[in-house]
Amino acid sequence: MAESLQAVRGMNDLLPEPAARYRRLVGHVASLLARYGYGELRTPVLERTELFVRTIGEATDIVEKEMYTFVDTLNGESLTLRPEGTAACVRAVLQHNLLYGSPQRLWYEGPMFRHERPQKGRYRQFHQIGVEALGYLGPDIDAEQIVICARLWRDLGIGAQVRLEINSLGDAAARAAHRGELVAYLEAHRELLDVDAQRRLHSNPLRILDSKNPAMADLIAGAPRLIDRLDGDSAAHFDGLCRRLDDAGIAWTLNPRLVRGLDYYNRTVFEWVTDALGAQGTICAGGRYDGLVGQLGGRAAPACGFALGIERVLALADSSALLGGGTGLAAYLVHQGESAGRFAAQVAETLREQGIAVVMHCGGGKFAAQMRRADASGARYALIVGDDEAASGLVSLKPLREAGEQQRLPLDSLAQALGAVAAPAA
Ligand code: HAM
Repeated sequence: MAESLQAVRGMNDLLPEPAARYRRLVGHVASLLARYGYGELRTPVLERTELFVRTIGEATDIVEKEMYTFVDTLNGESLTLRPEGTAACVRAVLQHNLLYGSPQRLWYEGPMFRHERPQKGRYRQFHQIGVEALGYLGPDIDAEQIVICARLWRDLGIGAQVRLEINSLGDAAARAAHRGELVAYLEAHRELLDVDAQRRLHSNPLRILDSKNPAMADLIAGAPRLIDRLDGDSAAHFDGLCRRLDDAGIAWTLNPRLVRGLDYYNRTVFEWVTDALGAQGTICAGGRYDGLVGQLGGRAAPACGFALGIERVLALADSSALLGGGTGLAAYLVHQGESAGRFAAQVAETLREQGIAVVMHCGGGKFAAQMRRADASGARYALIVGDDEAASGLVSLKPLREAGEQQRLPLDSLAQALGAVAAPAA
């Protein structure tokens, strides 16, 4: 027998039940974001490789080793499956001139691709909901986005399991000055640096602060802190954000080692972290990228955004009532006999016309076997049509999940009897 084919490692199928939870999460976030005035943006999954190299940064893990890049054989162009959504969002905003005259609040959802080592919570195709606001300078927009996250965690019932870490990366001059101090400090302790840190010492020293290597923990704890060396405007911005978070009753902690893995950030950076998911505990992350629009050729415009990892949020919100709700199936229709089958098909269509979810048994079989299918379907009721019913235009209704008598009803009162059953989410 031929060997059966499997999905690509780190890329997962989503079967109907988890797919329904995924859809409910995205639906909920879409309506939440609509309440804050964010509009949806859909961009292609493929972009020119250069877009990511120029925005995420050449010396980052993503660009150095995690991108799915290939040459389009038709024209020799280097293309990359998007590893994140911010770069494409800015590209689209500039391409369509959206910032002309008005700032933009946008969001997107979809698959991202990174060639990382797969483990629980880390995949090669994963999914994000991203939120971006372009053309806003003040800390009010940073705070708004963090408030949106906090509201979402509350809605999902996971508020107590996540904590907010924030930091400021200052402006370019503060970062350059800090970088010099940091490199000097790390060079003075070169013997304590692991191979990765030695490699990054000059290309991306800030990222060394993000190392999880316990052997370097003391070294990192003693390193010069960027947050203590902020320029005046960045310090005021950070203060403004902290005050707004306090006003909103959102608890936060300063993590001076929070630097993020993408080069486009300045000033505010933040992460929502949980201890409940093991090593991959960051469920959502973002910050400001005031230089990116200008860097991609647009007229300079400040911006702020974040993205949440859908797989991680779904894992954490495993028991959330908001995402549950079963199949939403009202009835499973069993039938026996030629005329009953034809009448049953009409019954099913009539109910669907009225917004009720009905599965019609297909493929024949004994009545008892059909009833077992009805039970297994998760439907609240079985609808039964035999030749008798078909002849009289009646349908028998039998509750499957609660006590209650079987009753025969005319077709036009069926919908009302089933009406209390919610239709499945769109
Ligand atoms: P990021 O931190 O690279 O930021 O990713 C955001 C979130 O995506 C992470 O916190 C995590 O939940 C999820 N994630 C990342 N990689 C994986 C993976 N391999 N498997 C599963 N989940 C993953 C960005 O992507 C920025 N574009 C966020 C942003 C938007 N900043 C400003 N605007």
